[in-house]
Amino acid sequence: MSTEREKQVAAEAAAELVENGMTVGLGTGSTVAYLLPALAKRSLDILCAATSPATEHAARELGLRIEAVTSIDRFDVTIDGADQIAPDGWLVKGGGGAHTREKIVAGAAEAFVVIADSTKPVPALRSPVPLELMSFGLRATIRRVAGGASGTVTLRDVPLSPDGGVIADYRGPVKDPAELAARLSSAPGVVAHGLFPPEMVAVVLVGRGESVERTDLAGR
Ligand code: 5RP
Repeated sequence: MSTEREKQVAAEAAAELVENGMTVGLGTGSTVAYLLPALAKRSLDILCAATSPATEHAARELGLRIEAVTSIDRFDVTIDGADQIAPDGWLVKGGGGAHTREKIVAGAAEAFVVIADSTKPVPALRSPVPLELMSFGLRATIRRVAGGASGTVTLRDVPLSPDGGVIADYRGPVKDPAELAARLSSAPGVVAHGLFPPEMVAVVLVGRGESVERTDLAGR
């Protein structure tokens, strides 16, 4: 079974969780690209906000009602993809460099639903961990984040984020995601990193063949 089909079945299952009247955060990426038509097809009375210009454009084209994230203080549900999903619910996100906005919209949701194909669950997280960095003081931030001999930080050859951030990747040990997340968050100049903790995640929907495997994490 193709991973594309698995993304689609996971995305369609997530669309079924959305109800009339909800405010919905929309993530970014190729899995979310399957969510948008599935949501539009349901013709619900919902308000959506997007985490990237690409998602916003695609959602509008499909007739979904979109408002700026800036004018919304909470979401009933946010649905987004992931690059890696650990057994304990830690995620790596930001393959598309949208992790700062994605973290804000996931963190503001009553329920954050992760959708993925069967290549995304991993036995343990590994680098690269995406970063968004301020351009001011970039060299000093890179040196600090790399943490001596243990890691490296490479800049991605991509445009700045819509918020002016520099997109980069940390490579190094990810043995303890909580410890690494705390270290990355405490470095001045790091706008956001791509490690998302399990406490942020309510439901994981993974497409396997034609089926969807559901894991509930909220309340752990
Ligand atoms: C973008 C992301 C995406 O959700 C993540 O990269 C997964 O993408 P895809 O659904 O294309 O596999 O974090 O910043």
